[in-house]
Amino acid sequence: MTGAGTTSPRARGRRDHQETPLWHRPSTPPSTIGPWLPEGELGNALAQGLARVEASLATAVASDHSFVSEAAGHLMSAGGKRFRPMLALLAAQLGNADAPEVVDAAVVCELTHLATLYHDDVMDEASVRRGAPSANSRWTNSVAILTGDFLFARASDLLADLGPEAVRVQAQTFERLVTGQLRETVGAQSGEEPIDHYLSVLADKTGSLVATSARFGASFAGVDDALVAELTAFGEEVGVAFQLSDDLIDIVSEGGASGKQPGTDLREGIATLPVLFALAGDDPDEARLRELVAGPVVDDTEHAEALELLRSSASLARATAVLEGYADRARARLAAVPEGPVREALSALCTYVVTRTS
Ligand code: IPE
Ligand code: IPE
Ligand code: MG
Ligand code: MG
Repeated sequence: MTGAGTTSPRARGRRDHQETPLWHRPSTPPSTIGPWLPEGELGNALAQGLARVEASLATAVASDHSFVSEAAGHLMSAGGKRFRPMLALLAAQLGNADAPEVVDAAVVCELTHLATLYHDDVMDEASVRRGAPSANSRWTNSVAILTGDFLFARASDLLADLGPEAVRVQAQTFERLVTGQLRETVGAQSGEEPIDHYLSVLADKTGSLVATSARFGASFAGVDDALVAELTAFGEEVGVAFQLSDDLIDIVSEGGASGKQPGTDLREGIATLPVLFALAGDDPDEARLRELVAGPVVDDTEHAEALELLRSSASLARATAVLEGYADRARARLAAVPEGPVREALSALCTYVVTRTS
């Protein structure tokens, strides 16, 4: 609704934009994106783009109701890697990165991601997110679900200005993401091979939005269609690799480096790749592990034992090899990208998804 007297969050953002250069704002939180970020001119351009993204995100989570602002701003302020907007900004560097739609498209991707985190933590009964209490634990499941919906609404508001094609791409992306979350929740159905099911769930729940981040960045920067298609395929593979590494970090991370509670997948009975390999195999060394992970591992002693066994298992090594395969396939897509710092940064991203520890 845009009746008289109504100021959209986007319009408010434009007004702020005139008052203060966005990258000079003291409130801009740093991204925890990690060491793959390039230096020099490209690094500076990305840092400026990210500052614009941060300012626009801050506008997008603000509401006239203070509680809504607090709840919607909670995870945004807590940190996060800003992986999806960074990928959009990086892909845009292959064209006219200053096209005004690029930052809005990057913000849409992060808002969509943020909203799914609010919902995912309800589904996973997670207590910690981005090193802060999850919204469901700080408030209630209802608050977390409705705040996620609020963020989807704000993403839609920005999308409306990006045109019907972007709305459709985002709708199809979101359909895949939700389908992935649903298929993970109900598990492999009869006739579905569990490992194929798992990998296609990862492509849907995570690959979809990472692919769209690369696609939006490149297409709004005017990159030609063939290269946009390659970058989209790159995003999909790197997105699956990113989720695979997230699943491995859930097993191997001991401290709070990930900003999440390690071992959540085991506790929730979500069988990730190392567990699926263990369950599908008949390695006598993994007999006890198979027994423990056959269902949700809720007992604290058994949970610690299962994590310990998994960390040194052959199944974990096999899963790591699958992760490396996705990263290698993503890197192979970069043959289509002109040589230069952007291609190098995208290649460094492939290394990052394999080596990251948080
Ligand atoms: C967490 O995503 C959910 C996954 C798809 C693995 P991120 O690891 O990108 O989370 P933030 O944004 O850095 O918190
Ligand atoms: C969540 O997957 C993916 C989406 C939110 C679409 P996970 O459940 O593995 O993510 P984390 O580990 O909670 O971040
Ligand atoms: Mg989760
Ligand atoms: Mg996880």
